[in-house]
Amino acid sequence: MLSYSSLSKYPIKRVLVIGLGLIGGSFAKALKTRSCVEEVVGADRNPDECRLGLDLGVVDRVAEDLAAEVGLADLIVLAVPVKAMEKVLAEIKPHLRLQTLVTDVGSTKTNLVTAARAIFGRLPPTFIPGHPIAGAEKSGVRASDADLFERHKLILTPLPETDPDATLELARLWQAVGAEVLQMEVERHDEVLAATSHLPHLLAFSLVDTLAREEENLDIFRYAAGGFRDFTRIAASDPTMWHDICIANREAILAQIDRYTSGVGRLRAAVDSGDSETLLGIFTRAKSARDHFTRLINKTGYSSNDHMAGVSLRAQRTNEIDGQINLPGDKSISQRAIILASLAEGVTDITGFLENEDSLATLQALRDMGVVIEGPHQGQVRVYGVGLNGLQPPPGPLYLGHSATAMRLLAGVLAAQPFDTELFGDEALSQRNMTRVVDPLRAMGAQIEISDTGGAPLRIKGGQALQGIEYTLPMPSAQVKSALLLAGLWASGETRIREPVLTRDHTERMLAAFGADVEAGEQGVVIKAPRALTATRLAIPRDISWAALCGIAVAGSGQGQLELDAVGMNPTRTGALEVLQRMGLQVEVNAQPDQAGEPVAQLNIQAGSRLQAVQVGGELLSRAMDELPLLLVAAAQAEGVSRFNGLSRLRHKEEDPVGRTVELLRTLGINVGESEDEVVVTGACISGGQVDAAGSLRAGMAALALGFSCSEPCLIDRCGSLLSACPDFVEQAQRVGLKVHKEED
Ligand code: S3P
Repeated sequence: MLSYSSLSKYPIKRVLVIGLGLIGGSFAKALKTRSCVEEVVGADRNPDECRLGLDLGVVDRVAEDLAAEVGLADLIVLAVPVKAMEKVLAEIKPHLRLQTLVTDVGSTKTNLVTAARAIFGRLPPTFIPGHPIAGAEKSGVRASDADLFERHKLILTPLPETDPDATLELARLWQAVGAEVLQMEVERHDEVLAATSHLPHLLAFSLVDTLAREEENLDIFRYAAGGFRDFTRIAASDPTMWHDICIANREAILAQIDRYTSGVGRLRAAVDSGDSETLLGIFTRAKSARDHFTRLINKTGYSSNDHMAGVSLRAQRTNEIDGQINLPGDKSISQRAIILASLAEGVTDITGFLENEDSLATLQALRDMGVVIEGPHQGQVRVYGVGLNGLQPPPGPLYLGHSATAMRLLAGVLAAQPFDTELFGDEALSQRNMTRVVDPLRAMGAQIEISDTGGAPLRIKGGQALQGIEYTLPMPSAQVKSALLLAGLWASGETRIREPVLTRDHTERMLAAFGADVEAGEQGVVIKAPRALTATRLAIPRDISWAALCGIAVAGSGQGQLELDAVGMNPTRTGALEVLQRMGLQVEVNAQPDQAGEPVAQLNIQAGSRLQAVQVGGELLSRAMDELPLLLVAAAQAEGVSRFNGLSRLRHKEEDPVGRTVELLRTLGINVGESEDEVVVTGACISGGQVDAAGSLRAGMAALALGFSCSEPCLIDRCGSLLSACPDFVEQAQRVGLKVHKEED
């Protein structure tokens, strides 16, 4: 038996459940099956239900004398219909002990509390209304299910009179049967339930009733498709119960019906006038909200490839390679494309958009601020820009998942909006430093609060007039530079940013592509607030990090060549390719027309070049920053001792990709010397083994490159992020002859 309540002020040993329906019966059975209390006693108006409850082992005992049982119980659970609550409360009141907790499981709360006040006068401190958000289409004690509350929410609505210790004790008991306990005020509970449960039920009843009244109703039902079935399933629920709920929660339900009616009115007007943008706006927002809800329920991420989280890959060096691989779109450029297209006037079509967690989180944030965005569908996105002054206040805090780029860039945009916003992310993102971006934004006049440790959540106060600044970045960061340039779109005067080392300049290039007044030169980058940004077409260059990964795979191969098309060749990003070429990789670079203001090229990589050791630092390293883990792997494959220095700046990066890669190399027996600022790798013949990508994209890419460098098979565990960034990479790699395959767990 669990002894969690033995020291408490309200020890719960005996529970009396009044009303053995689905919910009451399930709670009783859950308590009994899990031995949460010493005895569960059941009471019901219907003696057959009581007997059945006893026979089915739902309760230990049936109450013969309700008054006596009330006097013995430590907890009384009212599980009777909403409108019978008042009568039952009156019945039990004379027999209640001071220490007995009283709760209920009804789906409306205001009416219960009003009834309880009428009966008790001053409410007992042990009275705690409750509502488990769980149910099934079945009813009666026979349907009792001991697992009904597992991972379901249970809302407690304690009152000002309620003793917090009593609430805590009841919460513990619900948790012990698997529920996730929340607290809310009574009125809030009724409002929330009116919107999320009562309104959908009433709409389902009403739609079926409306169609059933039509003369041709039989035919309508005969042809009714899945939409009708899915939408109206809940119209088969208990009519008496829904009648009672409508009476009990009248005000909140009326408010929700009115809101809904005006929503349908907007939809009707759009259908009437053929207003495509409004129609698409309603449907895309609704779809993404519904998808978001599904993800919350399933606890999955933004991308649809979450099922791959546990996938392992087995890779090995290959003898012969030949063909072409289509690499995924560049992440930094994809994120900027969504932001600027949203702020532009007109419709921007984007192709080659990277559909990974980070870029989808950015896209969702802009949708939450009222931007209509179609897609992404196979890399195609259509953004209906709202103009520089068109963003709407989001309905709540903006969730940016794992993406520090999204958080920093959006901080720049949101600092200048007329409304307040809050930005938050997952645990890893909450640990990233935000002071580097917040400090200069504050210097421009932004009002931003951050956590005591300098991280998210960011609370940004709207309505601030920003002034342009001249700012020299104390530490190179493209994200910080970009945030300031974006804020500069609304700042008075000009905003000039100087940087110690030139970092990736995608923001500057894309701002220019959208017609902004931006100039880069010796004296830094300068932006003046434009009157407007103009929509354009954008093809996102393919990611050079993946090109570097392919380069290492090809270097390890015996013979042949690999072709990569439209790879981003922004000079601030080509460091890794240059290092690999310096190490001896044979690459033919054929320039192609610019895409999204960025240089791109087709690369032909020749196999059969034995890589040589290299020394990398300074400016070259900063142009290969995200690919450094890959370069460490190339060094492990190379002949001789390679040195990488000036690394301390990279240590703050998410998940310390350098440290992780050093671990990967050591796991396979490579000799690596490591200090805060330097890594020294001694090249060797790598035989094979097993490594863990730990769900990280950068470590995963390094691990896969390592696999392609092994003479024997190498198993790489937890490749989810890697595969979600390029879901068909394995199939494409196999087609050109690379030895890699998935091993699902
Ligand atoms: C990025 C900039 C880089 C990079 C990150 C993406 C961007 O970080 O490492 O993955 O999109 O601006 P810094 O801000 O440190 O330059």
